[in-house]
Amino acid sequence: MRMTWSDVTPKPLWLNRRQLLAGAVSLAGTPALARIEAAKSAYSTDAEPNSLEDISTYNNFYEFGTGKGDPAAYAGSLTVDPWSVVIDGMVDKPGTYDLSDVVKGQPLEERIYRFRCVEAWAMVVPWIGFQLSGLLDRVGVQPGAKFVAFETLVRPEEMPGQSSPFIEWPYREGLRLDEAMHPLTILATGLYGEEMPKQNGAPIRLVVPWKYGFKSIKSIVRISLVDKMPPTTWNMLQPGEYGFYSNVNPKVDHPRWSQASERRIGAGLFGGRQDTLMFNGYEAEVASLYAGQDLAKDY
Ligand code: MTE
Repeated sequence: MRMTWSDVTPKPLWLNRRQLLAGAVSLAGTPALARIEAAKSAYSTDAEPNSLEDISTYNNFYEFGTGKGDPAAYAGSLTVDPWSVVIDGMVDKPGTYDLSDVVKGQPLEERIYRFRCVEAWAMVVPWIGFQLSGLLDRVGVQPGAKFVAFETLVRPEEMPGQSSPFIEWPYREGLRLDEAMHPLTILATGLYGEEMPKQNGAPIRLVVPWKYGFKSIKSIVRISLVDKMPPTTWNMLQPGEYGFYSNVNPKVDHPRWSQASERRIGAGLFGGRQDTLMFNGYEAEVASLYAGQDLAKDY
C-alpha cells in the first residue's frame, strides 16, 4: 500500500497542504511541487518519518548560509530547471546529461531512511529516489575506476553563501566504488511523494544512510569515476575531524563531541535523545564493506 499525505503528515500540516494544493501555493508562497509516483521499498525503516516541516526547515546547505533556517529562507532563488549533470572520468559513456536523461529508466522508490548528521541530530526522511548503481551501470564503469566523486552547482548569483570563501566551492563529496554501488545508496529527486524541496538539494542529491549527513551531497552537477580517493569538502577543511569514510559510529567520537547518542529532531526538548546505532542502524547491510578495516583509523 502506498502511503498518502494523510498517513505520514501531522494533521495540521496535511490540512494546510490540501488547501495549498487547491490554491497551488505552498507554505513558502512558491508553487506547489509536482507529485512523483514511486513504489514502496523493502529497504525502508519502519521508524516514523519526521514531518515535512522538520525536514524542510532545519537544514544544512552552506551554499545558502550557515544557519539551519537559511536554506529554507534563501533556496527559493535557485533555478533547478533546466538542470544537467556531467558524468565523466572512467566511464564508457561520458557526457553532459539532461536531468530527464539521468533519471530515465531508473525505477523510483520511496525509501524511508534514518538520517544522522555529524552534529549529533537525526531525522527519518521518506525520500524518493533510485539506486546510484542503476545510473553507473548505464554509463558503464571502466575497470580502473575505484571511487566516485560528486560536485554541487557553483552559482553565486543564486547561492548567497557562495560569496563567502570559507568553503572552497564547489561542495565536493566522494564514495568508494563498492559504497556507491551498494543498493542502499540512492540519488534522490524528491521526498514525501513530491519533487525535492530546493533546501533539501533539488533537483537531485545523494543519500547514503549509513554515513554522516554531510556525505549526502545536494544539487549535484557532476559525477566523476576516478582511480584515486577524491578530495571532499569537510576533509579538506578539517582533516583531523572529518575523514573520507564518515560512517556513523557511536564508538568513534568527534574530537569535540561524543557520537554515542543523538537528538531526534521534532521529538521535543525532553524525550528526543536516543542511542546512535552502528552504521546508523544499517550494520547488517553494510558492515561487510569494511571487513578488515580499522574504523577508528578510517574514520
Ligand atoms: N550538500 C551541499 N552541496 N552543501 C551542504 O552544505 N550539507 C550536508 C549535506 N549535503 C551540504 C550538502 C550536511 S552537513 C547535511 S547534515 C545534509 O546535507 C543535510 O541534508 P538535509 O538538509 O536534507 O537534512
